[in-house]
Amino acid sequence: MSKDEKNFREQQKSQDWEPKVIAFLCSWCSYAGADLAGVSRLQYPANVRIIKVPCSGRVSPFYILKSLQHGWDGVLVSGCHPGDCHYLTGNYYARRRFAILKNLLEYVGVEQGRVHFSWVSAGEGEKFAQVIKDVIEEVRKLGPAERLAKLGG
Ligand code: FES
Repeated sequence: MSKDEKNFREQQKSQDWEPKVIAFLCSWCSYAGADLAGVSRLQYPANVRIIKVPCSGRVSPFYILKSLQHGWDGVLVSGCHPGDCHYLTGNYYARRRFAILKNLLEYVGVEQGRVHFSWVSAGEGEKFAQVIKDVIEEVRKLGPAERLAKLGG
């Protein structure tokens, strides 16, 4: 990390910086899990914005890259557990893409911990709340995402 980047991060942190995380949730499991967390009044950080998608397999790596480029500090993709995908194999495709994307992000200098992948079912409201807490904390430790944001959009 260069001296300028370090200074920028320190400045951002000192100005009550809060991480912004975008979450792509499949409508059949993880979105229902988020709904359950809400209905159950479980507390989780409000720094997350949720995008409902039909299946985690529909989340293109392009969306993830664009999210980081447009100022989101972290990205979460969450879908049904293996074997539970409503479209049978969508989550397997998502997992495979995610593994490749992780290597690409590392190659271009985006820190590990910016992009997360999880399985959350419709009955796992508590797990959903915990995943969000963990993701926010990990992104908070990394500071603002700058690597791709500098490239503009
Ligand atoms: Fe949930 Fe495919 S429908 S991951």
